Amino acid sequence: MPLIDHEARERETSTLEIPFLTPNDWMVEVQDEDGARCYPLTDSPLVFGTSLQCDVRLFDPTVSQRHCSLEVGPGGVRVADLHSRNGTFVGNARIREAWAGEGAAVSIGRSSLVCRPQLELLHEGGVADPLPGLVGGSVVMRRLSALVRRLARLSAPVLVSGETGTGKELVAHALHALGPRVEHPFVPINVAALPRELVESELFGHERGAFTGAVRKRLGAFAEAAYGTIFLDEIGELPLDAQPKLLRALDGYDVRRVGGSAGALHARLVAATHVALFDCVEQGTFRRDLFHRLEVFAVRVPPLRERRGDIAALARHFLKRMEPEYGRVALAPSALARLVAYDWPGNVRELRNVLYRALDHAAPTRVLHAAAVEAGLARPSEVRTDLTPALARSLVLRHEGNLSAAARAANVPRTTFRKILAARAP
Ligand SMILES: Nc1ncnc2c1ncn2[C@@H]1O[C@H](COP(=O)(O)OP(=O)(O)OP(=O)(O)O)[C@@H](O)[C@H]1O
Ligand SMILES: [Mg+2]
Repeated sequence: MPLIDHEARERETSTLEIPFLTPNDWMVEVQDEDGARCYPLTDSPLVFGTSLQCDVRLFDPTVSQRHCSLEVGPGGVRVADLHSRNGTFVGNARIREAWAGEGAAVSIGRSSLVCRPQLELLHEGGVADPLPGLVGGSVVMRRLSALVRRLARLSAPVLVSGETGTGKELVAHALHALGPRVEHPFVPINVAALPRELVESELFGHERGAFTGAVRKRLGAFAEAAYGTIFLDEIGELPLDAQPKLLRALDGYDVRRVGGSAGALHARLVAATHVALFDCVEQGTFRRDLFHRLEVFAVRVPPLRERRGDIAALARHFLKRMEPEYGRVALAPSALARLVAYDWPGNVRELRNVLYRALDHAAPTRVLHAAAVEAGLARPSEVRTDLTPALARSLVLRHEGNLSAAARAANVPRTTFRKILAARAP
């Protein structure tokens, strides 16, 4: 008779039975220029600042010596500004005192404090160091990192899901780079970009002369990946008629090249989707059996608004990458507060684009202020297509050689403006 693990049962039931959070169950996730770390919150104030006398010392020259305090109360976490120089922001508002709820981000200087229930930390699977190539040390990303590191060692298919711009491709690459297949190829295929009639031959290859236009034999992505990883991006776009073949490949059957011989699949499959693939199954555009084979393991990349603490580090990362074009630019605390408060439907990609537009708007500058961020956040209004090199030159003259001002007047990004300016008049 199997033994009953009473202790495990008890653990199970007691986890299920936790009815609500007690005041001591809050924690704060701090992210400053030194990295990310967590502290428990209690009902006595925890003081944040750059001074050694503070309970939590921050490494950020834009934070005051004693900047703000956080304590747990009946309505959530009470945030109090301690007469700081650059202010304390909750959401978009500069506050003297406020109540922050679950997931709320408090911006101080160029750092953030995110309040979370401590239960999240006890999540099964734990947390790990951030993934290579992915910026951001928030608890949610560290948890994702622990999962990815675990799955990287295995061979079963993984389905990476998440909104557009969350970093799914980087996660897929980390699954490859952190596993035993790292010495083998990583072959990314964007299914949405493949012409419908070529999907099968791109994936599985074709013999020379198999169809009109097949002038050379092609191995196909699966064969090219060999013992590496094949990354099928936008898997939801895989045409229904190509799905059975992928299904057979995943079931371990040999897969035939178009008009040719068969070969076995050795590569690991990682697929990504920004649409809910299960909805495609319900709508009949994606085979249920294929869906279940792809989703042996599911990795969800959280949207940026669920990890607002990472925004400062990501912004620093992108500003650094833009240095060759715009020089060294720092974010003003109020600008960071604006970025942290925004909801980012386009996620990390949108953050990068907004910073680009903000810099373009403000250049030349050393400090990016909230007004420039606001301009970057505004949807790019109609980009002019009638801008000729001659018109561009006359705008530069009118703006006394100031390229940024001329580009602004023409309503095109500075980089585009420069290209038009450099083009020869027809
Ligand atoms: N954590 C991160 N650190 C640094 N850069 C990131 C991070 N996440 C995303 N990026 C960058 O943001 C951009 C979008 O990321 P990626 O292409 O991986 O998104 P995606 O989830 O595949 O989006 P889509 O569904 O639109 O294809 C890329 O330029 C990527 O390098
Ligand atoms: Mg992608």
